[in-house]
Amino acid sequence: MKTLNHLALAAIKVNLSKHQSTPLYRQLFEQLRELIISGQITANELLPASRSLAQELGVSRTTILNAYDQLLTEGYLISRPGAGIYVAPTIASMEAVSPAPAIKHQPSAPALYQGFSSGPDTQAFPFPLWARCLAKSWRHPDNNLLSEYHPGGYWPLRQQICQYLKRMRGLECQPRQVIVTAGHRDALSLISKLLCQPKDRVMLENPGYPLASRVIQSLGLNTTYCEVDKSGAQPPAQQRNKQAAKVCILTTTRHFPLGFAMTGARRQAWLNYAQQSDSWLVEDDYDSEFIYSGTPPPPLFNLNHNQHTLFLGTFSKLMFQHFRLGYLVVPESLVALAEAIQMELGAMASVHIQPALASFLADRHFSSHMRKMRKLYQHKGNILAHCINQELRPWLAAKTPTGGMHLLALANTDLNDLAVEQQAQSYGIYCPALSRYFQHTAKPPQGFLLGFSGTTIEQIHSNTGILKQILQSS
Ligand SMILES: Cc1ncc(COP(=O)(O)O)c(C=O)c1O
Repeated sequence: MKTLNHLALAAIKVNLSKHQSTPLYRQLFEQLRELIISGQITANELLPASRSLAQELGVSRTTILNAYDQLLTEGYLISRPGAGIYVAPTIASMEAVSPAPAIKHQPSAPALYQGFSSGPDTQAFPFPLWARCLAKSWRHPDNNLLSEYHPGGYWPLRQQICQYLKRMRGLECQPRQVIVTAGHRDALSLISKLLCQPKDRVMLENPGYPLASRVIQSLGLNTTYCEVDKSGAQPPAQQRNKQAAKVCILTTTRHFPLGFAMTGARRQAWLNYAQQSDSWLVEDDYDSEFIYSGTPPPPLFNLNHNQHTLFLGTFSKLMFQHFRLGYLVVPESLVALAEAIQMELGAMASVHIQPALASFLADRHFSSHMRKMRKLYQHKGNILAHCINQELRPWLAAKTPTGGMHLLALANTDLNDLAVEQQAQSYGIYCPALSRYFQHTAKPPQGFLLGFSGTTIEQIHSNTGILKQILQSS
């Protein structure tokens, strides 16, 4: 941590007007943000106490506190107990950040990765709200919760997930169609039992989520892959003597790991493919809560009138990594069978945490929490993209993310991403190589998936510095 310098009141050159329709706190927030972005106020400068600044500017202290609060939420400022509020290392002040520590020796294997994490930012998580939800459901627990079996999930949670998906994704479904799962793997077991016979083929995207491939194979099914181009995954040409895939798992909203949405034409092509080959489509909507520009495209689930589509999601991105609660939305025709299979599989999602999640989703503060996280992740994503394009330009290039919790840094020179990944690992940096996500591809593109959501802004800067030194020396 750098030493913090006190910022003189006179350095805060702002001009607030009570005659504008924009509230005073917003004017102050925007002007302070501009001063930070333009580098007139630089990293690690301590902001004046709210009372003194309020006096200096002739506004109320609440105006100052609201503006500071907004800047904290968006990651421009950092608050440290005992120290005060100071400017985070931001885009403009990047050059002022101390250089990354020189790589002198191989440290021993670190216990924990220090970013680039694509998990949720737990420091911004509303723990008091979550604690209230847990206490509420357990102080006077619902009898039904204590003694009954809930193979499809706890009913109030199924209702809340249904409403949440309606609000967030416009998904057209009924609560009974929502089956609560213990996350992605559990949902894949349920899908395999619901729709497949042993040795059936399941189509996955290439590149795609490697865990899905391993789970499908461990379930005694065969995997087959479809290629991905700029429009998204491509349905394969139908071949006369070849058995079509029984299930196709697609990341339509944001392709994993490439990060773009499937086009409308491609969606239609998949619907046609599913109809002609009598296949089921599974839409893996793993992080679509975090779309930063535009609205996510409508789910295939809504477009598929012959009811051959399932919709898969997780709460790991919203709550905590390894939270182990997710959902599978199934067509009406499969509800009873899905519940019976869950009964047989043992309904892996612990029912006891489900009422708390239901209250959390229903709480009036939930939407503002989501908005806050969206802004925070977008801000961190912008900073990471900027860092890569400034600091790592000879080797990598990144687009400003339009959604999600990681971005793709594509190699623009000849490099071995697996070797760099391994070296970074010994410094506690997790930067998975892009080539890992390709199957049976002779020359996969090189690059890295860099998470930003669960990474602090300071870590983004310092990790980029370390990555630079690794790339320079490789
Ligand atoms: C493509 C994709 N699907 C699903 C998941 C979520 O899995 P889980 O519910 O096991 O956390 C992830 C997590 O990163 C993912 O990347």
